[in-house]
Amino acid sequence: MNIRICLLPGDGIGPEIVNQAVGVLDRVAAKFGHTITTTSALIGGIAIDTTGIPLPEETITQCQKADAILLGAVGGPKWDTIDPAIRPEKGLLGIRKALGLFANLRPATLFKELTSASYLRPDIIGQGLDIMVVRELTGGAYFGEPRGETVVNGERAAFNTMIYTESEIERIVHVACKIAMKRGKRLCSVDKANVLDVSRLWREVTIRTAAQYPEIQLSHMYVDNAAMQLIRDPSQFDVLVTENLFGDILSDEASIITGSIGMLPSASMGTTGPALFEPIHGSAPDIAGQDLANPLATILSVAMMFRYSFNLTTEALAVEQAVHKVLAQGYRTGDIYVGQGTKVGCSKMGTLVAEALA
Ligand code: IPM
Ligand code: MG
Repeated sequence: MNIRICLLPGDGIGPEIVNQAVGVLDRVAAKFGHTITTTSALIGGIAIDTTGIPLPEETITQCQKADAILLGAVGGPKWDTIDPAIRPEKGLLGIRKALGLFANLRPATLFKELTSASYLRPDIIGQGLDIMVVRELTGGAYFGEPRGETVVNGERAAFNTMIYTESEIERIVHVACKIAMKRGKRLCSVDKANVLDVSRLWREVTIRTAAQYPEIQLSHMYVDNAAMQLIRDPSQFDVLVTENLFGDILSDEASIITGSIGMLPSASMGTTGPALFEPIHGSAPDIAGQDLANPLATILSVAMMFRYSFNLTTEALAVEQAVHKVLAQGYRTGDIYVGQGTKVGCSKMGTLVAEALA
């Protein structure tokens, strides 16, 4: 297969982890006889420094021309005081919106090799963990209008709008149902329908959409309870579907119970066009440039790319098995090191996974 990938390394540890993922991509290409060509484009803080804005037009064009996109991370303290309209994060939000990437899949799975790195008690985490968080990615409070600052009774006030249309809810619930059908057929929709009007519509539309999948067992949970249940008994969940902001928060929570946010990949997809793959963690400026980052979430994002963009399941499994093998051999980056095994840096970890593929 001929595959064109647009790389968006971004800021902080982004370039380091993307570099390691490219090493793995090259190895997969060689092993399975694919031709993978990569281009690189600017996003986030590096784009601001180079062009003045976080998402140059050229980056959108490059992404549109690719078959898939691999992103590192954006942001850092350097741009924290910049005009909010051009913050690095706007680059990430902008590319999601520009490419219509409304469905964000964030699998939280426990690597059995890393059970001891989990923050949960062994009797809880021992029940296993295999959750797919399906997060709506181009709506809700992140993009809702009106938004901004105003003056109320002589003092500053700020506001955002959490808004969803029926069709926006329908399409993400369809994605979640299709995924649930390939898994345990249990779907839990997370909302705040006891308080928010937007959640009441969310629930109504979710019920009628999921009814088209009679085999699916649909349940609903308020977001505060869901946050608690994820810690109390994560094994109860199969697929979670939720709106943008709730999904942002819950997916971080789901990831950390696996031991490290440095392990979890994600896929962001639209109806057509290239999908975008990225680790769910941020740019970790505190460890950037020191060869300390965990490249596994980005490498596992490459596995998701093979699976979801190219339907290359064997290649996806090969990457995942290579990661398991390296972990089983005891290699750990700092974030997943709990006193045993061999501590390695970012590039060594990437090389080990690439070698494990051979
Ligand atoms: C994520 C991140 C982003 C988000 C930030 C960096 C804009 O936290 O991908 O989860 O909030 O969506
Ligand atoms: Mg987040």
